[in-house]
Amino acid sequence: MNQILMIEVSPRGKDSASRAVTETLAARLSALHPEAKLIRRDVAAEHLPHLDDITLRAISSNDPAEVERLKAAATLSDELTDELLASDLLVISTPMWNFGIPSALKAWIDLVVRPGRTFRYDSGGVDGLASGKKAILVLASGGVFSDGPWRPFDFVEPYLRHILGFIGIADVQTVRAEGTHLPHLAPEVAPKASRAVEALLL
Ligand SMILES: Cc1cc2nc3c(=O)[nH]c(=O)nc-3n(C[C@H](O)[C@H](O)[C@H](O)COP(=O)(O)O)c2cc1C
Repeated sequence: MNQILMIEVSPRGKDSASRAVTETLAARLSALHPEAKLIRRDVAAEHLPHLDDITLRAISSNDPAEVERLKAAATLSDELTDELLASDLLVISTPMWNFGIPSALKAWIDLVVRPGRTFRYDSGGVDGLASGKKAILVLASGGVFSDGPWRPFDFVEPYLRHILGFIGIADVQTVRAEGTHLPHLAPEVAPKASRAVEALLL
């Protein structure tokens, strides 16, 4: 294992359930893979930009002259994409917000899901170019979505698995810190998530 990339999304610092789980996971990964470089990218603190017209052209144009002319606009996307492609393991640690992912995480995704870099269209359909990596999702939610009546309203895990599959990452495990807003479940959220981290195949 050469490099591990952790994308941390919750802005809630020490109060964050997803970040607490990610701390435990980071400690386990460091113990198991002391040689690996561990990059922690805090997209809540970084305020990644939304794609604008120029950036979109810079990262998706087929015209080499335009790509060259606009290359400064692709700098951040290039950096984030290189970082992802150089990593063997990707950890995405995120809260559920309004049944989906926070826009800070969507901004990161929009900057790294790039034609010619992390996917390409070929005659057979889509070819994911970020293959050979594993991913772990750490998902925090106020309610319970792994099972029960709210399961169909989880637009976090299905979306993340789909977009990772789109770029070639199919080996995905999930740890949930769920029920943080449910008084009868809240005390068990952290211990249950810790046990799930222990059970991960790393
Ligand atoms: C803006 C916002 C929207 C939220 N939307 C949902 C939601 O749709 N479903 C849910 O179960 N919890 C929702 N929650 C609760 C969070 O998912 C919950 O507090 C979770 O623990 C947040 O992760 P964190 O502790 O890592 O910040 C929402 C919280 C916030 C702040």
